Amino acid sequence: MAEFALPKNSKIKGKGRTFKATSPGRIKTFKIYRYDPDSGENPRYDTFEINLDECGPMVLDALIKMKSEQDPTLTFRRSCREGICGSCSMNIAGRNGLACTTAIEDYKGDVRITPLPHMDVVKDLVPDFTHFYAQYASIEPWLKTVTPTPSGKERLQSPVDRLKLDGLYECILCACCSSSCPSYWWNSDKFLGPAILLQAYRWLADSRDEFAGERLDQLEDPFRLYRCHTIMNCANVCPKGLNPAKAIAETKKLLVERAI
Ligand code: SF4
Ligand code: F3S
Ligand code: FES
Repeated sequence: MAEFALPKNSKIKGKGRTFKATSPGRIKTFKIYRYDPDSGENPRYDTFEINLDECGPMVLDALIKMKSEQDPTLTFRRSCREGICGSCSMNIAGRNGLACTTAIEDYKGDVRITPLPHMDVVKDLVPDFTHFYAQYASIEPWLKTVTPTPSGKERLQSPVDRLKLDGLYECILCACCSSSCPSYWWNSDKFLGPAILLQAYRWLADSRDEFAGERLDQLEDPFRLYRCHTIMNCANVCPKGLNPAKAIAETKKLLVERAI
């Protein structure tokens, strides 16, 4: 897969620093994107040498080692360390993914790490998700009903209807898909992008939700939905193996069915 574009504020001119390995062993070199807006300096790549004999197997282990032993100012997000929270998404050697589920040994030679492409950067490897979360809120991602809950209890779902949510509910909102979509790079002000459209379809596909019509009205727009041009980067890159392109196609199908 071709390398994705760099983050929005990525005029890399600054002179990078090199952090030598703290002990001898199997040395791996990482080139890490560094940017601190408060410093007034241009972004740069810093070089970190890591002794793999004293490091866990994942890219996140290497980043934690760099921060603990070489440069405590190195900034990145992480929480669960097992592919559940979605906070460690970044671009590793040209491909978006989760640092905590990406093995270092998958890469030969130096490994270049940048924040998710085409997003503003808060600091170093931390992208600004403000707009992404606002777009998520705009689809009203919760169960919406008008009828009273049957007999005052929970709304039941048949096993067949529950199965329709598989491949949707597992999304961890890491934004790897949206930030790999060229259509989202150029139109993210109006196009919702694959992650949010997959989430939107998750509620359209829920047998308990009673607002499908209104949800479709919101999506029926030349930009919000129809800026997807089936480029398919989203499905190729999702670390959870989900297929946002399929969810988008299903949404378009619902709109066609409604029209005829
Ligand atoms: Fe991440 Fe996949 Fe959800 Fe996109 S669909 S936000 S890549 S988990
Ligand atoms: Fe983008 Fe995926 Fe559509 S990469 S154009 S959202 S198929
Ligand atoms: Fe939670 Fe990587 S730290 S997904």
